[in-house]
Amino acid sequence: MSATIGALETGSDPRLSGRAVKRIAFDEAAIARRVSELGSEITAAYPDGDLLVLGLLKGSFIFLSDLVREITRPLQVDFLVASSYGDATESSGTVSLVYDPETELEGKDILLVEDIVDSGRTLNRLMAVLSERKPRSLEICALLHKRIVEGLHYDTKFVGFDAPHEFLVGYGLDHAENFRHLPYIASLQ
Ligand code: IMP
Ligand code: MG
Repeated sequence: MSATIGALETGSDPRLSGRAVKRIAFDEAAIARRVSELGSEITAAYPDGDLLVLGLLKGSFIFLSDLVREITRPLQVDFLVASSYGDATESSGTVSLVYDPETELEGKDILLVEDIVDSGRTLNRLMAVLSERKPRSLEICALLHKRIVEGLHYDTKFVGFDAPHEFLVGYGLDHAENFRHLPYIASLQ
């Protein structure tokens, strides 16, 4: 793709099936640079211990696969799948695990990897569930963070980018399960 900055014309990227994207928020090179930096930060932050990188599916799958290759210390990878049953009138929402990691979590240094923090509801619930498993440490690594006030009750130790308050797709993020495979992150029109 030639243009990675500014507006994309409808149909300029065959992956978009004619859907126009408003702009590219983060291009491939910017993502690669930041993921490499995050890998170095994470490597330095865990000088010892059993590091378990726990990806939240599906949104984290591309980010996680790039990130773990930039972490230069031993680690294990597992995934979890959460399901939200909240409705618009229920402010707390309900998040349950539909796939529970097989890996033993007790005593591990767990790094929970998420694509994007929006309201923080998903992570608030997951962090509560995971902390009950008695890990040695539990931290969050989010590729994107919308910095919504009063959202997430937990500190996000590692953040790729502060995200604009727009609906973003690509590099794992979807709209109705589409666009996860875009190598860049774009905002939808
Ligand atoms: P939260 O629980 O409101 O923080 O929502 C987090 C989840 O919502 C993310 O893991 C995404 O799956 C989804 N999400 C939130 N904002 C976006 C967006 O801009 N694009 C795509 N998915 C999003
Ligand atoms: Mg999603």
